[in-house]
Amino acid sequence: MKLHYSRILADKLDAEHGLPRPRLQDLSQRFPQVLAEVRARRRDGEYGFYDLGEQAQTVAAIRRFAEGVGQAYDHILVLGIGGSALGTKALVNALRPPAWNELDDEAREYFPRVTVLENVDPTSIAAALQRIDPRRVFVNVISKSGGTAETLAQYLVVRAWLDQALGPDAAVRHLAFTTDPVKGPLHELAEREGIARLEVPPAVGGRFSVLTPVGLLPAALVGIDISALITGARRAVQRAEHESLLQNPAALYAALLWAADTLLSARIHVVMPYSDRLREFAAWYVQLWAESLGKRLDRRGAVVHAGPTPIGATGATDQHSQVQLYMEGPFDKVVTFIRVEHPDLDVTIPQRAGLPEELAYLQGHTLNELLHAEQEATSAALARMGRMNVTLSIPSLSAETVGELIMFFQLATGFAGVWYGVNPFDQPGVELGKRLTFAAMGRPGFMKEAAPGAGGPPDVSG
Ligand code: PA5
Repeated sequence: MKLHYSRILADKLDAEHGLPRPRLQDLSQRFPQVLAEVRARRRDGEYGFYDLGEQAQTVAAIRRFAEGVGQAYDHILVLGIGGSALGTKALVNALRPPAWNELDDEAREYFPRVTVLENVDPTSIAAALQRIDPRRVFVNVISKSGGTAETLAQYLVVRAWLDQALGPDAAVRHLAFTTDPVKGPLHELAEREGIARLEVPPAVGGRFSVLTPVGLLPAALVGIDISALITGARRAVQRAEHESLLQNPAALYAALLWAADTLLSARIHVVMPYSDRLREFAAWYVQLWAESLGKRLDRRGAVVHAGPTPIGATGATDQHSQVQLYMEGPFDKVVTFIRVEHPDLDVTIPQRAGLPEELAYLQGHTLNELLHAEQEATSAALARMGRMNVTLSIPSLSAETVGELIMFFQLATGFAGVWYGVNPFDQPGVELGKRLTFAAMGRPGFMKEAAPGAGGPPDVSG
């Protein structure tokens, strides 16, 4: 994996915008302090996700478990939300053929179909349960805390559906919970009912957990090479140990994006893979960057209201949607392109007699050539317009490169936390909304929470 970063620097843009090259020197000089803080916090157990590059035992155990489940089931239903769902979606999207669930058994090599229910919208849940055969489904309920309202509500609905179809005793064999090793409601239910249980390492936060059993079990169940995922992740961790900023891509990426935000007010960070298979990856990145870096308080308790706004886009599709804004709108963005150099499939645009000149030029080229040309052209055009952008290039889309990409962004988020001076592993901002939901749903102990302005009449239009 390579990070091409010249087009974030002023001398490669229009000389008016972008980071002045000497900033690189400043960032490099400050980097040892950043690295030292990351290392100190790792020693204190805060950066637990670093250890995910070394987990041969977990991988072996998950593989055994997945083999045990084997071909007894032809559908995997994942229940979870946020960090307990987005990573699985990203893995399936990237590493299974497109339209996986529509393929027949042979094309799926007899691996099951997979559905991730990540919301409590009744229309999606009802439709999924109507589509799936309860006798042939394996349900993986994923919640690190074990008490997230949405996931538990999904579980109760799905459990009633299973019980009704199979009876409660048989239903248990169709379930596995992925949750905290010692506490939480899901853990308690699993113990009480003898439901299979996988552990989320307590030192790894929800949005950093795709390379734990949270993402690894569903991935293994649908035939993804989880050992290769970890190999890729390990490579990213090794590279993130480099003491020189310019040799440490994840740290450099974090430093550049932080500098663009805080020095040039480029507060919007777009990640734009030129691959449909990385669409869900962009959604995963959005949660990681937003929830980790968007904080009211810094580490010392000062009010900072820090945090870039992440956006996911897909090339070339969003060239016909968002790119006009990126090209001519405010100078408040950095675009990160992700480019797959050698996709495993290509399609030649066929020759066809009598095409008008405006179309004939396409003949004989391949779709990947077009995609690559569009990515390079968009990057160059943005640069010419003074717009900062960087490109991450990966050789191909494989379990190894996806593992590396995932870990690269996790590491960058960890470094960015230090540059911003915030704790990237908490999420106090979502707590209030949770408490008000509990109050609205009548959860004991939360009834005193009242929505702001609840006493007065609401202002409504229409
Ligand atoms: O990153 C996080 O901590 C969150 O996005 C969680 O993943 C999300 O809230 C789900 O939490 P849990 O896994 O505890 O159900």
